[in-house]
Amino acid sequence: MTRKNTPPAGGTLKTLERVFSKAGVGSRTDARSWIGAGRVRINGKIVQNPDHWVNLERDRITLDGKPLGFATKTYLLLYKPKGYLTTWRDPEGRPTVYDLVPAGTWLSPVGRLDLDTSGLLLMTNDTAFAERIANPDHKVPKTYELKAATLLSDEQIEQLRRGVELSDGPTRPAEVRRLRDGARRTHLEIIVAEGRNRQVRRMIEAVGSRVMKLVRTAIGPVRIGDLPIGQWRELTALEIAALGGAGRAPTSSTSAGRRKRSP
Ligand code: URA
Repeated sequence: MTRKNTPPAGGTLKTLERVFSKAGVGSRTDARSWIGAGRVRINGKIVQNPDHWVNLERDRITLDGKPLGFATKTYLLLYKPKGYLTTWRDPEGRPTVYDLVPAGTWLSPVGRLDLDTSGLLLMTNDTAFAERIANPDHKVPKTYELKAATLLSDEQIEQLRRGVELSDGPTRPAEVRRLRDGARRTHLEIIVAEGRNRQVRRMIEAVGSRVMKLVRTAIGPVRIGDLPIGQWRELTALEIAALGGAGRAPTSSTSAGRRKRSP
């Protein structure tokens, strides 16, 4: 039998485990472990139920005795290198994007990039912003450059533009531009607004070729520009606004850097 957890009336309510991710302090998994370990108090009392309802206006929450402050909204643009996962930890110990961004504020990737894909990855603690960009209904265009394993004909490119049949349904029309042809391989720019799993790779396979290299160069109007691979920078206030975010204007938009996460 499932336990009923009805929220009390009034105020802004969140379950205890969600308060931590909203505050930008940690993931819901982190929160569950802190709560389970008895490190979290509400109004002075230890609460070990992660589904406990919290009134954000009234309740005082502490972790190890320290009050939970709500983190300023933060928006980073990382140039993800190939070979890095977009997850927090990997059981096989492979590098993750968290090895490249500053530690301290809990940031989640906006959507995913495959292990073998490089390029623009946004990371933020603004969950509404992240959901908006990743949600295909909002049709935020994502631009990729790719190298195909073969030369692609005009007809193959036209098929990609019209939409191709994938195992999870047809793709919507895409913008596709031939960048150049080498002796044996075509380089394309492709703009899609869906973000399905391995979508671009599967689209190229659907027209009988294969992706050899895939780089995301832009999300909406935000471009990766000349940011070096493996580096990050804050989005500018204009970029945040253009993508529909509501965060503060960063104090500096040139604070690119590379920092190891704390253990
Ligand atoms: N499409 C893919 O196939 N892979 C990505 O990482 C992103 C888009």
